[in-house]
Amino acid sequence: MAGRERRLMTDTVALIGLGTIGEGWGLAFASAGHPLRLHDADTTRAMQAAERIGREVAGARVEVRADLAEAVAGVAHVQESIAETIDAKTALFAELGRLAPPSAVLASSSSALLPSAIFAGLDGAERALVAHPFNPPHVMRAVEIVPSPRTSEATIARAADLLSGIGQVPLVVRKEVPGYVMNRLQAAVVGEAMHLVAEGVVSPEELDRAFPAALGWRWGVMGPFETMDLNAEQGFEAYVDRFGASYQQLTRTLCVDAPWTPEAVAAVAEARRRAVPRAALQERRRWRDRMVRAVAALTAGRGARG
Ligand SMILES: NC(=O)c1ccc[n+]([C@@H]2O[C@H](COP(=O)([O-])OP(=O)(O)OC[C@H]3O[C@@H](n4cnc5c(N)ncnc54)[C@H](O)[C@@H]3O)[C@@H](O)[C@H]2O)c1
Repeated sequence: MAGRERRLMTDTVALIGLGTIGEGWGLAFASAGHPLRLHDADTTRAMQAAERIGREVAGARVEVRADLAEAVAGVAHVQESIAETIDAKTALFAELGRLAPPSAVLASSSSALLPSAIFAGLDGAERALVAHPFNPPHVMRAVEIVPSPRTSEATIARAADLLSGIGQVPLVVRKEVPGYVMNRLQAAVVGEAMHLVAEGVVSPEELDRAFPAALGWRWGVMGPFETMDLNAEQGFEAYVDRFGASYQQLTRTLCVDAPWTPEAVAAVAEARRRAVPRAALQERRRWRDRMVRAVAALTAGRGARG
């Protein structure tokens, strides 16, 4: 058995916090053969997650531990997915530093907090980093690995290796910035979309309907730089020559940080409920996951590996 395969069979992963993201991580790690220990402040929540993982992943090995020390004893990797508040995360990681084996990688699923703040009270911060997934982690296959200035290169390599082994595509963010890379890009798009609706430039329905075909289909298989590279006969530099100045002029007119007015929020909310009633949201999420899996299959993991 090759080294990676053998490790996948044996490396136990502790998941702390079993809400939306922790449960998704559970499905992703269990599908790759990792034994799991689950711990949530609400043990009922951890048991519900264990039940779902057991139901959906044949042969899953899942244990629930109400005691944090038991949850992390002997594990190779700890993936924290508790609430996104700095105080809760700092307190938990200070405890994990004492309880987890010194050899374990300690990873936070934080979406935007700075790793240096999350790990401020942690002895042994060289083994801690953020591993930020996309929702849901068992369907989306990218993860941002964000080290703090104290994280060791060996920890980055171990986390990237483990996460690649479960089919994730790691993007190492080399300097910590709020929101890392992908949420900054997403915030730019979302901020400008809210501004355009607030200004009456476009209706929420039409924006959402046009977005996939206008931007999403290409961005589903390649990033913005490759999109530019292919959009000019002679490639990226020719694109910059032709469109660079006008893009930069345009960006100076964006209002990505405009306040989200109550009127704009209400307009989007009404449009969304007309499109999908609240009671149908769960079914629509299942549809989203089927579509994302279909795109991933169609592109043979291009977004992931290409
Ligand atoms: N939801 C998303 O789209 C998304 C995407 C990527 C990353 N994240 C990040 O993942 C993390 C979790 O988000 P979520 O949406 O799953 O939250 P959630 O509210 O669904 O789940 C949080 C879980 O953590 C438990 N919990 C809270 N404090 C705890 C503690 N001290 N010890 C043990 N368990 C505790 C809660 O009982 C709950 O079950 C956050 O940091 C969030 O920013 C969320």
